[in-house]
Amino acid sequence: MKGRVFSGARPTGRQHLGNYLGAIQNYVALQKDYDCIYCIVDIHALTTMEGSEGLQDNIREMMLDWLAAGLDPQRSILFVQSHVPQVMELHTLLSMVTPLGWLLRVPTFKEKVRMQPHNVNYGLVGYPVLMTADIVLYKAGLVPVGEDQLPHLELAREITRRFNSIYGPTFPEPQAKLTPFPLVLGLDGVEKMSKSLNNDIEIAISPEETLDRVMTAFTDPTRRFRSDPGHPEGRNIYRLHRFFAPDRVEEIATECRSATIGCVDCKKLLAQGINSDLGPFRERRAALAAKPGYVAEVLSDGAHRAHAIAEETIREVKGRMGLL
Ligand code: AMP
Ligand code: TRP
Repeated sequence: MKGRVFSGARPTGRQHLGNYLGAIQNYVALQKDYDCIYCIVDIHALTTMEGSEGLQDNIREMMLDWLAAGLDPQRSILFVQSHVPQVMELHTLLSMVTPLGWLLRVPTFKEKVRMQPHNVNYGLVGYPVLMTADIVLYKAGLVPVGEDQLPHLELAREITRRFNSIYGPTFPEPQAKLTPFPLVLGLDGVEKMSKSLNNDIEIAISPEETLDRVMTAFTDPTRRFRSDPGHPEGRNIYRLHRFFAPDRVEEIATECRSATIGCVDCKKLLAQGINSDLGPFRERRAALAAKPGYVAEVLSDGAHRAHAIAEETIREVKGRMGLL
């Protein structure tokens, strides 16, 4: 039997290069050797929203990106978290084996408290428990995510171990799976690329918009004049060349160091690389977007298939916890 993979992402709408390089590359690749389940986690999204504006549009835009990037609904289960409500039941059951102290120590919780002090809701504390429920409801062993999710995965492993030790071996301990680009920085070159920081480049935008966006990227601060030698190592743009121009990356570094090319040239090259890599994706996306009802059909079929697995796990968990 093939191993099972699960991953989730919040419905932030169109995906950016951070999602693409940090997560989606692995989502697609793992389909070859695993049974994969990929979920748009709309309930998690509610922990940071006040109101529901844009949620359904975001789900559709995101799924179009996933499908065009190569997620195959024939092979993988693609669904929306709230369409399989058993996850909320499992979340409540897992919360009984999760010490509050573990949750209050999670770095993302502390960050959210700083970012939304007026809305430190109960759901925010339980965020990693719901995430654990997502994974173990499907008994997934491997979880492709970006580096920012590692603390959540560590907690998921601890909750799983605790459950298994109290109620007997039930769930595999999930392992994180990173890509070679587990942390893509934003256009500011400092923070993680993220929609909420408006430092992102969406993959579905046009070649012209891509160029405009890349041109706003922050580059080498030590390079004040075009003739100053550059320091490509560790810089975000240079790292992106590693993916989008793998054959030319050494040459670009040499030309930067010798000031043969300037930062503007370097960014133009990057935009070209991104546009040529994403050209076929953008064509597929436009074709899928033109098929009425297609995304809804994929999600309905996915929910149906996920539901069958979820039902079986919930029955087993309730039995182990003495509820049946
Ligand atoms: P999110 O959109 O924050 O729900 O993230 C969806 C997936 O993309 C998760 O696996 C994240 O770890 C990954 N991801 C998000 N932003 C980045 C980034 N800037 N670099 C690498 N991976 C990322
Ligand atoms: N917390 C993840 C993020 O913000 C999304 C997520 C929810 C997830 N449930 C998951 C990721 C289960 C992996 C597995 O990106």
